Amino acid sequence: MQPKLKSKVRCPDSEVGDVRRVIMDPLSHEVSHIVVGRAGGGSVEHQVPAGQIQGVTDDVVTLRCSAAEFAALPIFKREDYVTTHEVEIAHLEERIHVTPGEVLVPFPELERSVKRRTFFANFTHVIGFLIGLPLAFPVLRYLMKPMYAPFDNQWLKIGNSGKIKQEDVGIQFKYKRKIKEAYLPEQEIDKNVWVLKATPKVLETIYQGKDMEFRDVTGKALWTNKKDVPYIAFSGKCPHLGCGFKWRTHKTLGQVFLCPCHLSIYDAGGKVLDGPAPRGLDPLPIKVTPAGEITIIDMEFKAGTKAQVRIV
Ligand code: FES
Repeated sequence: MQPKLKSKVRCPDSEVGDVRRVIMDPLSHEVSHIVVGRAGGGSVEHQVPAGQIQGVTDDVVTLRCSAAEFAALPIFKREDYVTTHEVEIAHLEERIHVTPGEVLVPFPELERSVKRRTFFANFTHVIGFLIGLPLAFPVLRYLMKPMYAPFDNQWLKIGNSGKIKQEDVGIQFKYKRKIKEAYLPEQEIDKNVWVLKATPKVLETIYQGKDMEFRDVTGKALWTNKKDVPYIAFSGKCPHLGCGFKWRTHKTLGQVFLCPCHLSIYDAGGKVLDGPAPRGLDPLPIKVTPAGEITIIDMEFKAGTKAQVRIV
């Protein structure tokens, strides 16, 4: 008698599961294995050789091995087999009496060779890629270098402090900056920052008693804005979504930085007073010479984040 699907499977010491599939030898047309789903083991299925089958009744298959030995049998790998629906085996029905779709045979040798051919084709592509890589590498490096270039930390002259006539009033300074993006030629873009000569009260809100350190990506200290130097420069991009903002008079809040895009409002120290901005204005490294010449390091930070993350 042949094992039937869903029959209980028992070892001499306990019941171990049920028959889920049957594997046949395509040449001899004999059952070569049964696939047993482990009781309580979810989708775990073991492949049990026919030689382990001691007896078969209408609804029970008895194995020779113990439950522990059963658990050590190989796990069934579905991808190594096809159903008899997928390959035609002559006279199958005369030899085996389970649902044909549940009868499996090993993956045909012909198909395996196709897999092998695919493997060799892919292997050839890999070899081709490896041969071509030394030739392509300088080109790729040239194209991608600007994307991975370290941040540009050069000091840029933006104007003279003589332009600032009043304390705690934002004054816009415009300047040009050269940038190089990926493989595009270098170009010059217009940029701006807002500079303030702050009173001690506003300085205190910005620095909160501590100097402000700026570091490179490597962690190397670049510059420290001293807490008692009155000049402060804010990046010209709103930390909400990067729009340009202005110094304006608000009817209840007085003089503020106001971003027209979504109406974020900041006080003279850059603190958010209203609107969707997730953080205050971004201070930049600033130096002012005794002659009043102002230089800054032009940094840009990710918009829309609470944390300040430098991107340029
Ligand atoms: S970009 Fe400034 S408020 Fe949205």
